[in-house]
Formats: sequence, C-alpha cells, structure tokens
Amino acid sequence: MEAVSGRTPATPGDVQIRPLRHEDIETVVAIEREAFTTPWQPDTFAGLLDRDGVELLVLADAGDGVIGYAVLWCILEQGELANIAVTPGRRGQGLGARLLGHVMDVARRRGVEKLFLEVRASNAPALAMYASFGFEQVGRRRAYYDHPKEDALVLVAALT
Ligand SMILES: CC(C)(COP(=O)(O)OP(=O)(O)OC[C@H]1O[C@@H](n2cnc3c(N)ncnc32)[C@H](O)[C@@H]1OP(=O)(O)O)[C@@H](O)C(=O)NCCC(=O)NCCS
Repeated sequence: MEAVSGRTPATPGDVQIRPLRHEDIETVVAIEREAFTTPWQPDTFAGLLDRDGVELLVLADAGDGVIGYAVLWCILEQGELANIAVTPGRRGQGLGARLLGHVMDVARRRGVEKLFLEVRASNAPALAMYASFGFEQVGRRRAYYDHPKEDALVLVAALT
C-alpha cells in the first residue's frame, strides 16, 4: 500500500550507518535538541569533522534521511562514546542498539580496549541499552548535568 506522502514507508533494511557529512549537521542538531536539554551546537559537530580519533556516524533512512547519530572519540586504547541519539519517532525499533553495536565494532577496530561513557542517572532507556551491551558502572559524577541538575553515571565496556 502506498503511504499518504506518496512513498512506501521505510523498513528496517532501508536504514544504513554511514559517516556524518557536513550537510547532515542541521538535521543532527534538530535531533540533538529534542534529545538533550543542553544540546551541542552546530559548530561542535562541524569542529569534530575530520578530527583525528573522532568517528561521527549517522543512521540514514532511505526515505526519511538522517534519523540518528553517534559520536565516538578514541585515544590509543581508550574510547569515549560522547553522544548517541535516535529521533523520537524512530525509537524502540532496534536502531539505537544497531548503532551502538556498530560504534563498538569501529572502536574495537581502532584498537580501543575500554569504551567509556557518561549517562544521566535517570535515563532508564539508555541504561538498559548499555547494560545489554555489557557496560558496567565504574563511577558517578555528582551534579554533573544541568537542566535538571543530576548525577552522571560513568560506565565502561571492555572491548577485547
Ligand atoms: C537511548 C536511545 C539512543 C536508544 O535508542 P532506541 O533506538 O530507542 O533503542 P533500541 O530500540 O535499539 O533499544 C535498545 C535497548 O534499549 C533499551 N530501551 C530502549 N527503549 C527503552 C525504554 N523506553 N525503556 C527501557 N529500555 C529501553 C532496551 O534495553 C532495548 O533493548 P530491547 O529492545 O532488547 O529490550 C534513545 O532512547 C534516545 O535517543 N534517547 C535520547 C538520547 C539519549 O538519552 N542518549 C543517550 C545519552 S547517554
């Protein structure tokens, strides 16, 4: 059946993971603003493009364009998942898990042995996703986040 917009709705197979390009930044920042109360600005993403040790990846839907993204930075055998989000209308479809699995593969190929991240203590969906990928809590940063003020949990996964 044809969608009202005139095109067939995308199936999961229509979503690919590819490097972020400069022209994706506007869409990525729009997703970022819906996901976080202190969002990164366009300049932050632009400044990370082509930076050594940084991987910027997007989930690109064949019909809808960019629907998610992740930012990984790697320094020798340590990596940090600095950012990951999926647009609200496409959450709960396995896309965040697919992107995270891909990021972990990329980090492993770059020689990362430990992948760190910080997450709001109340962010149940993200915490459940990270736990299912073997992340464990190794620290807590008190009152790390603003709007609202909240602790960050520091998680790590061993990639070897
Ligand atoms: C975290 C986020 C990226 C997950 O993306 P997603 O595409 O919705 O996740 P998936 O559908 O792939 O689900 C992966 C796992 O996450 C967990 N999860 C996802 N949504 C959940 C929910 N509403 N409640 C509890 N757990 C949830 C589950 O463990 C799920 O695995 P399962 O389906 O086998 O149970 C997404 O919720 C998001 O963009 N949130 C806003 C940004 C954010 O908080 N990023 C993390 C910052 S540290």
